[in-house]
Amino acid sequence: MSQTHHPFPPLPDYSDAERIARAKAAYEQLKTRHSCRDFSDAPVPREVIEHAIRAAGTAPNGANHQPWHFAVIHSPEKKRALREAAEAEERRFYGADGDAPKASAEWLGALAPIGTDASKPFLETAPWLIVCFAQRTGGIAEDGETQNYYVNESVGIACGMLIATLHDAGLATLTHTPSPMGFLRDLCGRPKNEKPLMIIVAGLPGENATVPEHAVKKKPLEQIASWL
Ligand SMILES: Cc1cc2nc3c(=O)[nH]c(=O)nc-3n(C[C@H](O)[C@H](O)[C@H](O)COP(=O)(O)O)c2cc1C
Repeated sequence: MSQTHHPFPPLPDYSDAERIARAKAAYEQLKTRHSCRDFSDAPVPREVIEHAIRAAGTAPNGANHQPWHFAVIHSPEKKRALREAAEAEERRFYGADGDAPKASAEWLGALAPIGTDASKPFLETAPWLIVCFAQRTGGIAEDGETQNYYVNESVGIACGMLIATLHDAGLATLTHTPSPMGFLRDLCGRPKNEKPLMIIVAGLPGENATVPEHAVKKKPLEQIASWL
């Protein structure tokens, strides 16, 4: 295995004041992101999604095995199939067909302030559905066997970078996790060593899109950080 190392890429020589201003600006921009559950069908160029996935693919990850795959769904037929399968799972999850809900009362209680239910029309209206897969094995060569490391952590970071890039491009997103999600592997034609982690829905917000009050309340710095 090659041990070649490259010089660390040059970073901009900002003053402290510039660094503070840039970090603040990044925060101000990121805090305008909110999950969207009502999308318009306005088209968004594929190139935006391509760049966002390239950005996700630069994420730090266990041993640089890059244990992710992004299956991008755009065709109306595939979107309909995904919506139908997701809503079937969601109806069982919420107990929408009259059976006992699969979700615990505690889980349903936690979701109540967000106001979600089994109906997911945005899975057909939004232009892009990015199904994010975690590769349990495969290594860089994707041989299906080599052990991967810190898979969920790595793919979680990549998905965060994907969402941040889409937001920066002026798109709305939703992290959607129908429960369970196993059906996504067949629907996307992915191998058994891959586990679907989430769907990132991307597009422009619909006219009636709202943000639940619950989602606006973010913990303050004093609560989420300690300084030792
Ligand atoms: C791993 C994960 C799974 C999520 N699953 C769903 C989902 O299935 N449906 C949904 O409407 N929102 C889902 N969300 C979105 C959260 O409800 C949302 O991020 C949270 O309420 C905070 O709101 P905000 O994104 O507007 O800041 C999910 C978020 C994450 C990170």
